[in-house]
Amino acid sequence: MTDSEALRLSVDVGAGLTLANPVVAAAGTFGYGVEFAGVVDLAALGGIVVKGLSLEPAHGHPAPRIVETAAGMLNAIGLQNIGVEAFIADKLPLLRRAGTAIIANCWGNAPDEFADVADRLSDAEGVAAVELNISCPNKREWGRIFAADLDRTREVVRAVRARCRLPLWVKLSPNVTDIVPFAKVAEEEGADTLCVINTLIGMAVDLDRRRPALTNVTGGLSGPAIKPVALRMVHEVVGAVRIPVIGIGGIASGRDALEFLLVGARAVQVGTASFVDPAATTSIAAELAAELQARGCRDVNDWIGTLELA
Ligand SMILES: Cc1cc2nc3c(=O)[nH]c(=O)nc-3n(C[C@H](O)[C@H](O)[C@H](O)COP(=O)(O)O)c2cc1C
Repeated sequence: MTDSEALRLSVDVGAGLTLANPVVAAAGTFGYGVEFAGVVDLAALGGIVVKGLSLEPAHGHPAPRIVETAAGMLNAIGLQNIGVEAFIADKLPLLRRAGTAIIANCWGNAPDEFADVADRLSDAEGVAAVELNISCPNKREWGRIFAADLDRTREVVRAVRARCRLPLWVKLSPNVTDIVPFAKVAEEEGADTLCVINTLIGMAVDLDRRRPALTNVTGGLSGPAIKPVALRMVHEVVGAVRIPVIGIGGIASGRDALEFLLVGARAVQVGTASFVDPAATTSIAAELAAELQARGCRDVNDWIGTLELA
């Protein structure tokens, strides 16, 4: 048996769902997964979170809606997608043969709409879990980010939990003073897993045009610039809830992933790194395995949550 065969990478991420390894492609940065099939060995991933799905197709915001920043990017895509029915009919049949866990990210403009999408996904063959995006910073229609208001967070998670028959992941927002009460409310309302974090609200200006660089004025900051914020928030949430936490934010290498697992994340999601290198997710999964082996670790679960604070 080789060293690589001896390494156990599978992780339990809650509600009985086990991922083959802890590296998952993040929502909105990996399309519907199928677009990457020729570039990336999808079966080498722990899972794929597909871009946010809504009841009806959505066009998102007008361009420019992406701008590069120091160590990251701002986006105000506005949750463009083909709608849940088209995803199930046109994308899922291919995707479910990918040999990895498929997680459907979803959203709505009201709690019942979120629940309608989750309900529909619960009957779709090949969806392993539903991830609730209550944390998008670019939805004017929401008035305020759902995940930045405790009552709205409770309302949406409760409505979805009542109708979602799959493991329920809730993705939290970093755009709050204290993320812990939001994590606790999501857990109380039946979330199986918490995903920490979505993007941070930011802004860029175009000096020559004297205009905001994004048509939407503000956008969500992602990439290496946000990694320290994400690590801090994962650390806080892991200490406050009993359900598994998945770490997201600026992960660009196996070592970055290892840091999130060390603070207690059961798995990680990789977003912006896929814009730099479309094969980043599988490279990071391979690097993570090599980093664990270099540390003499035979089971990733022996590494998770072993940060020494004193
Ligand atoms: C272009 C783009 C689109 C995104 N779309 C979604 C989305 O549809 N749903 C969602 O929950 N998060 C979405 N996100 C947030 C990412 O999934 C991730 O939480 C965030 O980018 C932080 O991770 P990163 O620094 O590795 O990119 C999007 C991010 C980017 C950059």
